[in-house]
Amino acid sequence: MRTRVLGWLDERMGLTAIYHSVLDRKVPKVNWAFTLGSASLFLAVTQGLTGIFLMVYYVPHPDQAYESVNYITHDVAFGWLIRGIHHWGATLMVVVVFLHMLRTFFYAAYKYPREITWLTGVLLLLITLGMGFTGYLLPWNQRAYWATTVGTSIAGTVPFLGPFIESALRGGSDLSALTLARFFSAHIWMLPAALVGLIGVHLYLVIRLGISHIPVEDE
Ligand code: HEM
Repeated sequence: MRTRVLGWLDERMGLTAIYHSVLDRKVPKVNWAFTLGSASLFLAVTQGLTGIFLMVYYVPHPDQAYESVNYITHDVAFGWLIRGIHHWGATLMVVVVFLHMLRTFFYAAYKYPREITWLTGVLLLLITLGMGFTGYLLPWNQRAYWATTVGTSIAGTVPFLGPFIESALRGGSDLSALTLARFFSAHIWMLPAALVGLIGVHLYLVIRLGISHIPVEDE
C-alpha cells in the first residue's frame, strides 16, 4: 500500500529524482567542520519555528510588549522553554554561522566556481546579525531600550548617511512605538523573507556545485 502511494506520487512529482539530487549526493572525504552549514540551517529553522510560537502571545506595542514577554515566560505552558530556545538559539546561530564562514574561508571554498555561494553567505551573515539586532529590542525592557539607543546611535555615525539611517531606524529622533513597530516588522517579515530567499539560492548552489574538497598543498 505504502509503496503504491509513494509510486503514485513519484510518477507525478519526481520525488526519487529530487531525493537523489538533494540527499543522495556524492561528497568528498570531509571532516566535522563541514557540518557547520547544516547546523546553521537547523538553527535557522529552529528560530523560525520558536519565533512563530512566540508570536502567538507577543504584543508589539510599548504598553504591552514587556508584559506579554513576561506572560510568555511565566504563565504560558512551556513558554519559558520556547523563549529560552529562541533567546539562546539566536546567540548560537551567530556563532555557528560565523564558524561556518571561517570553515569555508580557511578551506578556500569561496574560490571558482563558488563565488556566488560565498556572496550569498556574506548576506546571510549580515541578515543573521540584523535578526539579532532587531530581536533584542522586542522585550522592551531597560536593557533592550538602551542597547537599541546605543546601536542606532552607532549607525548614526556613518559618514553622510548616518543621521538619515538613525532616524529611519528609530522612526524619529528618539525610540518610540514607531521604532518598536519597525524593528518588529523587520524581525518577523523583511529579514526572514530575505533569509529564506538567500538560503534557497545558497543551498541550490551547494547542490548544483557539490561540496568542495579539502585543499591539498600543491593546489
Ligand atoms: C544562515 C546562514 C547559512 C546557512 C543556513 C548556510 C548553509 C550552508 C550549507 C548547508 C552548506 C553545505 C554544507 C557545508 O559546507 O557546511 C553551505 C556551504 C557553503 N556556505 Fe553556507 N550557510 C550560511 C552562511 C554562510 C556564510 C556566512 C558564508 C560565508 C560568508 C557561507 C559560505 C558557504 C560556502 C562558500 C559554501 C560551499 C562550501 C563548500 O563547497 O565546501 N555560508 N552553507
